[in-house]
Amino acid sequence: ADALKIGIAGLGTVGASLVRILQERHEMLATTCGRPIELVAVAARDRSKDRGVDLAKAAWFEDAVALASEADIDVFVELMGGAGDPAYSSVKAALKRGIHVVTANKALLAKHGIELAAIAEEQGALLNYEAAVAGGIPVIKALRESLTGNTVSRVYGIMNGTCNYILTKMEREGLTFEACLKEAQRLGYAEADPAFDIEGNDTAHKLSILTSLAFGTAIAADDIYLEGITNISIEDIQAAADLGYRIKLLGVAQRTESGIEQRVHPTMVPYDSVIAQVDGVTNAVAVESDILGELLMVGPGAGGNATASAVLGDIADIAKSRPGAQHVPAFGRPTTALLPYKQARMQ
Ligand code: NDP
Ligand code: HSE
Repeated sequence: ADALKIGIAGLGTVGASLVRILQERHEMLATTCGRPIELVAVAARDRSKDRGVDLAKAAWFEDAVALASEADIDVFVELMGGAGDPAYSSVKAALKRGIHVVTANKALLAKHGIELAAIAEEQGALLNYEAAVAGGIPVIKALRESLTGNTVSRVYGIMNGTCNYILTKMEREGLTFEACLKEAQRLGYAEADPAFDIEGNDTAHKLSILTSLAFGTAIAADDIYLEGITNISIEDIQAAADLGYRIKLLGVAQRTESGIEQRVHPTMVPYDSVIAQVDGVTNAVAVESDILGELLMVGPGAGGNATASAVLGDIADIAKSRPGAQHVPAFGRPTTALLPYKQARMQ
């Protein structure tokens, strides 16, 4: 069968891991997917940077929008980050050409997800984004496909690896907040601007995506009551431990009589609960629904390999899909009301 031609914009922590895996597992992927996956074009800012991978066979683009608009590709993989340009314009340009898109960019989807999903549907293209929430955990697939027919009452969990890493390290090793954050950055877990992690925005972006999938709402990160972990001290963590609790940054979305409530804030969880035992960069997402009951998914929430694994799964799904086949829509059309921020805050 013909090769699946992909272009990748963004060759940082996730992009470079993805390129390495695509090269090391080329044969295996060709067998599993029934066709080879060929990297034909890449874009990043600095061409002279050594990324530890061989890019000799891929065409280099300075401009990600040009790659998305002009390159001869079947799939555009967006791994640059940010809700604005070039991520937004490049993804839109690719979808408008009917080219499938895979992205790990939750900030982009939290702002433009419904619009981009509509363009994808119009053009018969796929918009896959498994890596955008909870890193390598297949939570999007679970909500979008496996739980079809269930009525969800609550989705909650630890959705930011950087914050969970910081809180765990502070408790276990008595290190300062700043030292733990630096280490999370060194390990490639943090966002380019780590304020998004520690102030809770990244969890809010992810929660808004899960809320939309679970409850059929608009994607509205601005309607989320938001508190990050910047005010948590070692003393707070120790005081909670003395009472039998751990502090975790949770995102919670739940059905109420007047609408869907969304909140993100540090929460004391009982020491013997499963979620309290989720350490370091690990994430956990729980879904409560009426047919299945309680589902808890735990796994690596950030880092090059964990994230590239989810991106690769999305690419493989496209490689295996038949031309003209019906696609699962990226997001449903919003039908359910969200509780506005102020009401959610008062509960
Ligand atoms: P990095 O900051 O490590 O890499 C970003 C890449 O994008 C770099 O290669 C950079 O180029 C390139 N880039 C940035 N701006 C532009 C631009 N204007 N034009 C062209 N290229 C550009 O980010 P990550 O790999 O960590 O994250 C990528 C995406 O994946 C983000 O959306 C992030 O939120 C998401 N994500 C990350 C996870 C992680 O654990 N790191 C986990 C889950 C999702 P250059 O290298 O030349 O500077
Ligand atoms: N900065 C994010 C985190 C990356 O720490 O969870 C994964 O989305």
